Amino acid sequence: MDDHPSYLVFLGMPGAGKGTQVQRLADASGLPHVSTGDLFRRHLRERTDLGLLAQSYMNQGALVPDDVTIRMAQARLDAPDSARGALLDGFPRNLAQADALAALAAARRGAVTAVCLELDDTVCRERITGRRQCRACSAIYHVRFNPPRVAGVCDQCAGALYQREDDTEAALSVRILAYYKETAPLIGYFHAQRALLAVSADGAPDAVAERLQEACAPQLALRRV
Ligand code: AP5
Ligand code: MG
Repeated sequence: MDDHPSYLVFLGMPGAGKGTQVQRLADASGLPHVSTGDLFRRHLRERTDLGLLAQSYMNQGALVPDDVTIRMAQARLDAPDSARGALLDGFPRNLAQADALAALAAARRGAVTAVCLELDDTVCRERITGRRQCRACSAIYHVRFNPPRVAGVCDQCAGALYQREDDTEAALSVRILAYYKETAPLIGYFHAQRALLAVSADGAPDAVAERLQEACAPQLALRRV
């Protein structure tokens, strides 16, 4: 029995489909979906100090400072449901965060693998501008590509759908720049460690999901050995 945890890191531009695909993989694998963006948004809903601090950065499209982000991610990975690993959506997002994850994984004798969802910028923008998300359960929809059964209402929990505050043209441009400046260097970081998988995020959600499941099968199976 191999009890070492497996951490899968999902990289990709805003709108590449990280949240959409990682939720599917979590359902299929039993590993938790850990999204730092969703964690910040939950803090904001609950009006915690952390949420209020994150809000100003998020609304501009900038990264939240590393000290608070790393502490929040570490606390989430300390939760019992992460004992066998996690599917990390939006963390790490720069080299300092990647080093922090590497230290955490090493302390637990776990493995880290990155999966880059590759998609053209123009398609990402189109996906982002039509996105709607559930305030209650964070389920993701798109007005054209993945509409809910009833407009404005979550299929899963009947919660209200909303457009994210950082899905404006101005904030999106800052997010895309932040991706290229701060997050894209992680592609080289993981490639150099022979720990990078690249998967095309183009096409319908089911087709991308199939590609991803195939690419990640060894990592997801590893934890069940
Ligand atoms: P975060 O919430 O992580 O946002 P992001 O990285 O900009 O990515 P998105 O959530 O916008 O896109 P996604 O790839 O998840 O796409 P989705 O599946 O929704 O971060 C937000 C902010 O929080 C950051 O800017 C920062 O301020 C802060 N933050 C978070 N983590 C941080 C960290 N580690 N350090 C510092 N700050 C941090 O899909 C998009 C749309 O496309 C949806 O409408 C979906 O329905 C649709 N769609 C998906 N797949 C397909 C498909 N195959 N075909 C057609 N449509 C599709
Ligand atoms: Mg997301």
